[in-house]
Order: sequence, then C-alpha cells, then structure tokens
Amino acid sequence: MKKLILSVLVFTLVFAVGCAGDQTTWDKVQDEGKLTIGMSADYKPFEYTDENGEIVGFDADIAQAIGEKLGVEVEFVDTAFSGLIPGLKSNKYDLIMSAMTITEKREKAVDFTNQYFNAGQVVAVMDDNNSIQGVKDLEGKKVGVQLGTTGDLEVSDMDNIEQIKRYEKIPQAFIDLRNGRIDAIVNDLPVTAAYIMKHPEVKMVGEPFTSEHYGIATRPGDEELLKKVNGALKELKEDGTYDEVYNKWFKQ
Ligand code: ARG
Repeated sequence: MKKLILSVLVFTLVFAVGCAGDQTTWDKVQDEGKLTIGMSADYKPFEYTDENGEIVGFDADIAQAIGEKLGVEVEFVDTAFSGLIPGLKSNKYDLIMSAMTITEKREKAVDFTNQYFNAGQVVAVMDDNNSIQGVKDLEGKKVGVQLGTTGDLEVSDMDNIEQIKRYEKIPQAFIDLRNGRIDAIVNDLPVTAAYIMKHPEVKMVGEPFTSEHYGIATRPGDEELLKKVNGALKELKEDGTYDEVYNKWFKQ
C-alpha cells in the first residue's frame, strides 16, 4: 500500500512539474498579465532614465504600445548591455528591447522579431579635433565603445588601434572623450546625434560605416511570443502609432 501511495505521489509530482515545464513564455505572460523587458537604460533617445528615475525613450514607448496591443502590462529591467542576452537566457525577463542590432552571431543565441529601426556606426570626436576625419583615421588612436555592442565588434576588428576602451554605459565614454582620455567614440548614429544636440563641443566625422537593423529578442523556441510581438509591431506601423512615437523622439 505504502509503495502504491508513494508511486502515485511520485507520478503526480512528475506530472505537475512536467506541465509547469510545458508552459510557454507567452502562457506565463498572459497568466501574469505582464511582459518583462530587459534593456540597458543608458541609450538616449531609445532607453534612458529620466529625472524621475523612470525608464523612457523610443523603445520604452514602443514596448508600452506592444503591451497595450497584447493586453498586458510592461515592466523594464535595467541591465548592462553586455549582460542582456545572458539575462534573457536565465529567464530574468521575457524579451530584450535595447536598440539591439540583429547580427548573425546574436541570432545563434536568440530569435529576433522583424526589424523595427535602422541605424549605423559613426565616429564622434571633439569639435576641435582635425586629425580624425573618419573611420580610417582611428589608427593609432584611443577609441571608446560600449562593451559588447556592434561598435565594440567593429573597432575590435580594426588594425592598429592604440587602445580600445570598453565602457559599461555609453555616457561614460562621452565623459572620457571630453576629458581627453579617449580620442574618439564609435557608436550608433541616432544616439551620438542626440548627444551632440545637447553638447555641440562634440561632432561626428565621416559617414556611418555600417548598416544595422534593430530587433526585439526572444529566447529561441518562444515562437508564440515572437509571433505576438511581430503582430503587434505590424499593427503599430499600420495604425500610425509607430510614426507618432518616432516623431516624438526624432523630430524635434
Ligand atoms: N545597436 C548596438 C548593438 O546592438 C548598440 C546597442 C546599445 N544599446 C543600449 N541600450 N545601450 O550592439
């Protein structure tokens, strides 16, 4: 008898755990009524912390609008950019939305939605710098990038850079540029352009030298969630919400 009870217990337990394991991220999001999103909130105008300590920006608004379409709340989890994919893998949040470029390498680790924004890498220097006119002049120079970004990858591939300084957060790189600790920054154009609007002592030189597309990342296998988010993105583009949010952050 005892044996029977025990085996029934074990069976029930295995069954229960099995069922819980079958719950998809989309099921969980619906159960909890909440979508959690990892982002590195250092990237104005995409995601940054405002005076009230709130995470705001283009990505934040689009994420909220996606939440509305899906009928769930949205919560942001601020995480250093280089830790975003590991954090997604260990279930710290359901998605990554962080001005993240769709790259082949990242696609091996995560799935991306359809692209939602175009950008490229650009070189920034102090306004009085005449020796760096573009990406070719970075030889022998100290260059700042954000750790783990496409800017980091691009500069890491260049020959004869004197030193690459990798920053956790991009505003630290701009502080160092102004203090003369680095000669140039390689970073996404929209973010560098937004910085220069407020700090005209910094300028961009040369043309953007990469062509990149941002996507929202899910864990591989979260197909339902990916489909839902793609559907929401499509609706936002069709009903004018995307353009409204774009104009709010990029047309001042
Ligand atoms: N687009 C670049 C990349 O994917 C930089 C993104 C940085 N994002 C951020 N929120 N700091 O690598």
